[in-house]
Amino acid sequence: MRALVTGASSGIGYELAKQLSSIGYDLVIVSRDKKNLNKLKDLLKTEVEVIDMDLSNIDNCKKLHEMLKDKKIDLLINNAGFGIFGDFGTLDLDRELNMIDLNVKALHTLTKLFLKDMIKNNRGKILNVASIAGFMPAGPLMSTYYATKAYVLSLTRGIDKELRKQGSKVIVSALCPGPVDTKFNDVAKVKFNMKPLTAEYVAKYTIKKLSKGKKVIIPGKISKLIYLASKIIPDRILLESAYRAQTKKI
Ligand SMILES: NC(=O)c1ccc[n+]([C@@H]2O[C@H](COP(=O)([O-])OP(=O)(O)OC[C@H]3O[C@@H](n4cnc5c(N)ncnc54)[C@H](OP(=O)(O)O)[C@@H]3O)[C@@H](O)[C@H]2O)c1
Repeated sequence: MRALVTGASSGIGYELAKQLSSIGYDLVIVSRDKKNLNKLKDLLKTEVEVIDMDLSNIDNCKKLHEMLKDKKIDLLINNAGFGIFGDFGTLDLDRELNMIDLNVKALHTLTKLFLKDMIKNNRGKILNVASIAGFMPAGPLMSTYYATKAYVLSLTRGIDKELRKQGSKVIVSALCPGPVDTKFNDVAKVKFNMKPLTAEYVAKYTIKKLSKGKKVIIPGKISKLIYLASKIIPDRILLESAYRAQTKKI
């Protein structure tokens, strides 16, 4: 079995790669940081291919698929992503567009290209890393980031429904964590407003649920509560509490 994990140089992707290797997966690990990817490779006992690549460049995503299309990828984990915090009116447009390129366009492209191969073989799994943010009506002060994660969740659920209607054995799942202790906050320049989960816990929980074919994976009690709240609380109240919660991250 071989898994392709994007954003494996740190955080959730790093732990997912470690856990998958421990249960026997060979890996292809991708991010921009070759040094950290090689450090991870040295820790693992299964076969690991390191590819340093900026996935916010969509030509690179196509190149990645070309490089790997003849190697059987049983599991694709689209994990690479980042967030930006601040008022939409003042945030830098190029940085936001780069986030959309990575969180949305790269994930969309890799899902499309690898899914076609998987459909042909009628086997394989894709895990798209969304966020509990994807269930919220919007995310004031992280508006663009929340919108990217709503896209990921919606796309993933839509594709999986199509596959079920086609009687396919291919599964496309979404991972929807709440706060997880990774480099995410440093990149977004915020601090936690609630106790985070460890990336190790999230990875172990995710792999357990993935092996059972779960379509939407929500690790941790807080995220499950946020999910339930998103189903029953009116949007205007959710938006107000989301804004207040975000201001506590400064
Ligand atoms: N942490 C949380 O609270 C949380 C909650 C919900 C969802 N998530 C999602 O979980 C995913 C993983 O984030 P994390 O929390 O583990 O953060 P992280 O520790 O910052 O990891 C992000 C990973 O993405 C890679 N990456 C960033 N830009 C890239 C690019 N242009 N091309 C290729 N790889 C790139 C990074 O590697 P390089 O820098 O080496 O390229 C790193 O390996 C993200 O999609 C994030 O939105 C996180």
